[in-house]
Amino acid sequence: MKVTLRIRRFNPETDQKPYWGDYTLDGVEPTNSVLELIHRVKWEQDGTLTLRRSCAHGVCGSDAMRVNGVNRLACKILMDGIGVKDGDTIQLEPILGLPVIKDLVVDFEPFFDHYRAVMPYFVPATPPPADGRERIQSQAEREVFDDTTKCILCACCTTSCPSFWASGKYVGPAAIVQAHRFIFDSRDGAAKERLNILAEPDGVWRCRTIFNCTPACPRDIEVTRAIGEVKLAIKRAE
Ligand code: SF4
Ligand code: F3S
Ligand code: FES
Repeated sequence: MKVTLRIRRFNPETDQKPYWGDYTLDGVEPTNSVLELIHRVKWEQDGTLTLRRSCAHGVCGSDAMRVNGVNRLACKILMDGIGVKDGDTIQLEPILGLPVIKDLVVDFEPFFDHYRAVMPYFVPATPPPADGRERIQSQAEREVFDDTTKCILCACCTTSCPSFWASGKYVGPAAIVQAHRFIFDSRDGAAKERLNILAEPDGVWRCRTIFNCTPACPRDIEVTRAIGEVKLAIKRAE
């Protein structure tokens, strides 16, 4: 089938403002991913088109973009998955709320600044066991934060959040998910510090429970639920 990609293009070194570029492709299969089509545009029609991707299998989280107005990983979206038919147009834009570097590539530094701010690493609550073995954790204790271990830091959630669009100072759902993973780990000893960080004005209370983040997550993490659990933990610690 024939499909047109309408791609938001912008090179800050040469363009006054963004514009739409239309690229029509023949021989598109229902099993083709959006990423495969973008590759065809870049390799067959316009080598200047700029994107970020790595694994092409939904693991690295590097090709988040807006596909027909919704945040997606381009490699995980197939033509038949979004009901594309012969003659259709697919609209592609960079994710919102982060500065565009070029075309579909945004600057992730503000996003990672928020990530780093929540102490997204294990802080042992106890010294290593004397027998040299691992710290024991029950299955039930592990299940409390199992969901949030799946995050691949793709930013689909944070850049779909209207609170983040309104203020880039909001730490955002991805950082809260990462904090959740350690706050609720029974072996970790820094939950209080993380909760204090997230209780700041630009922390969890900027979440207005808009819920855009949950359907945006390509890992099916219950993002809003995780945020709610962190809010509750802050209240209980007061
Ligand atoms: Fe991506 Fe989901 Fe992690 Fe958000 S929570 S960064 S959408 S994987
Ligand atoms: Fe934003 Fe998700 Fe909260 S969309 S407002 S972080 S529920
Ligand atoms: Fe790695 Fe899509 S390229 S998640």
